[in-house]
Amino acid sequence: MTAPANAAITAPTVAPMTRQPQPTTVYIGVPDMVRIIRHLGLSACIAEVAERIEAHFLRWTQFDKSARLACHSTAGVIELMPIADAHEFAFKYVNGHPGNTRLGLPTVMAFGVLADVDTGLPRLLCELTLVTAIRTAATSALAAQRLARPGSRCMALIGNGAQSEFQAIAFRDLVGIRELRLFDLDRAASLKLAANLAGQGLAVVICASTADAVRGADIVTTVTADKSLATIITPEMVEPGMHFNAVGGDCPGKTELHRGVLAAASVFVEFEPQTRIEGDIQQMPADFPVTEFWRVLSGEQPGRSHAAQVTVFDSVGFALEDHAALGFVRDAAAELGIGDCVELVPQSANPKNLFGLLTAVAPDAGNMAPSLGPVPPARLPA
Ligand SMILES: NC(=O)c1ccc[n+]([C@@H]2O[C@H](COP(=O)([O-])OP(=O)(O)OC[C@H]3O[C@@H](n4cnc5c(N)ncnc54)[C@H](O)[C@@H]3O)[C@@H](O)[C@H]2O)c1
Repeated sequence: MTAPANAAITAPTVAPMTRQPQPTTVYIGVPDMVRIIRHLGLSACIAEVAERIEAHFLRWTQFDKSARLACHSTAGVIELMPIADAHEFAFKYVNGHPGNTRLGLPTVMAFGVLADVDTGLPRLLCELTLVTAIRTAATSALAAQRLARPGSRCMALIGNGAQSEFQAIAFRDLVGIRELRLFDLDRAASLKLAANLAGQGLAVVICASTADAVRGADIVTTVTADKSLATIITPEMVEPGMHFNAVGGDCPGKTELHRGVLAAASVFVEFEPQTRIEGDIQQMPADFPVTEFWRVLSGEQPGRSHAAQVTVFDSVGFALEDHAALGFVRDAAAELGIGDCVELVPQSANPKNLFGLLTAVAPDAGNMAPSLGPVPPARLPA
């Protein structure tokens, strides 16, 4: 129905807005993450992240999951890891460049975002290099709680780089490991790890070889970085009842376990479609039997069923773990009042007037006239 021409023009009745989302994003960089971890303590952070990861695994079917997107080069890999539940979307950017440490850069570097599903608004932009070390160690320990022999006390830790302290502390706190047997091709890395763990309630021995470190251990964690089909653990090193926490074989063409080790073991994975491509099981036929770990947590499938069973957690790192860890960071930052609000998305009274941002007077522009800059001559109408 059209209004009569002489009718007074009145503002249309608009239903009151229920809630205006504030377009702010919290930014947590490395210094702020260090503050959070120091404030809460690393053990508490690992324990809380492990709890959240377990809760996420138990909500497995509620997540929209996909294998990660990878961009490979001869030097390494850069990956994007997206995942969402009904409320929050998360992604992580992460690389793996085993040669980086020679250039003074970490092998693994990461950052990520947590966003509202309802609006797409990014709520948290966060460093994830430290967080990846925490969530990987938390996931490893969570798996070992179900898959290692009860009473496991001795762990071999092969690869003593950036992830290794986090693995050691997670296994001490959540699994009860008291003795560590270290090996790294780079002895300086083992000495660094031993020094960092001094006074942490762990008996630490630096060993002469992987075989030496593995002998007699209850649990073997491999967390090496080498872009090759490595066989760090060979079948003759395997003893009845051992649990292998294989962390470093996480990319096509990058493995740590000899296929004979996998063939002799019960193998557990995070998200099967991703692990078939990236995990140590990339060496095995497509129908090689594996169990997704969430099925063990939910009680649907058994974990370890007898003392002599050899178990492997073929870890590659799954986006679900980062989703859980980002939620932890968001809540910890809010509780501690840590982090900056950054204007990652435009803030405007009229969201349809994006162009208006370019002509508005910038707050720090003083009395300068707004300007879009000179029009390039080539674009002038003829
Ligand atoms: N599964 C996951 O969720 C996950 C998460 C983070 C990192 N990672 C992987 O973990 C691995 C370690 O990461 P980082 O950040 O500690 O790397 P890093 O480069 O800091 O340390 C790796 C160490 O492995 C050692 N190494 C390499 N080959 C070895 C061998 N054959 N025997 C013994 N030691 C060897 C190196 O000397 C180095 O000290 C990487 O491969 C990374 O991609 C996996």
